[in-house]
Amino acid sequence: MTQAETNVHDVDLGKASLAHYFRNYEEFLGPLRALPLDFLELGVAEGGSLRHWESWLPQAQITGIDIKPCPISFASGRVKTYIGEQQDKAFLDRVAAERAPQGFDVIIDDASHVGQLTRISFWHLFEHHLKPGGLYVIEDWGTGYWTQYPDGRKLRQRPVDFGWHEKALTRLHGMAFLHRAGFLRKPIGWLRWNMVRSRHRSHDYGMVGFVKELVDECGIEDATHPGFGLGPQRVSRFEWMRISLGQVIIRKARLR
Ligand SMILES: C[S@@+](CC[C@H](N)C(=O)[O-])C[C@H]1O[C@@H](n2cnc3c(N)ncnc32)[C@H](O)[C@@H]1O
Repeated sequence: MTQAETNVHDVDLGKASLAHYFRNYEEFLGPLRALPLDFLELGVAEGGSLRHWESWLPQAQITGIDIKPCPISFASGRVKTYIGEQQDKAFLDRVAAERAPQGFDVIIDDASHVGQLTRISFWHLFEHHLKPGGLYVIEDWGTGYWTQYPDGRKLRQRPVDFGWHEKALTRLHGMAFLHRAGFLRKPIGWLRWNMVRSRHRSHDYGMVGFVKELVDECGIEDATHPGFGLGPQRVSRFEWMRISLGQVIIRKARLR
């Protein structure tokens, strides 16, 4: 972890969306609350969230990871914390072998909020240490819009309208003389068709870019379609993904 990466955690995340996060947790974890879940949280800070999970999930075995030691202890004996980096795959393998050799049921990433680090731990844990049907939650992906973060970039919003060239062609296409000079209708129609092939270029820095990569995984069956995409075709590793305000929740596909 570089100095820059460490300092960004001093940034106030201003979690106005906390209530919304908990509504999502209620919806997706609520039905599982009484189960003996294997639960992993990346980024535990002072241990506040681990305390919450310890009481909210009374049967769960809870594991926390952070680059700093967790300053509090846990009475239940069900919580264990480890010091290490989320992007260290060998470290994650060691923790998983000790705490959840069959895989975790739930993984929450509230650690660096840096795209590349989140991406490395996501794909490694998702592939190797999350059970089929398990849930993976990524918090605070909006840091990708913040320049306080090493990989964040401000969003420049684009107007939702046709460009001047599309508007001009549409006007031209509608002009009465074109209907008389029928030979022009076809090339102008062709131009209009090709002009709406516009790309919707958008910001892909940091966490925001990573979330958009996850969208690609949702669309992978179409992206690898034998007729229209780039093969070999495969199905998505996700059963579904919900992107919401600051939070992404993914259910891993079950074995087919
Ligand atoms: C937002 S705080 C976690 C807050 C905690 N989940 C809670 O709600 O009480 C982020 C934590 O991630 C840790 N962290 C930052 N970068 C990390 C990394 N690369 N690997 C593991 N932990 C990291 C920081 O030390 C910090 O304690």
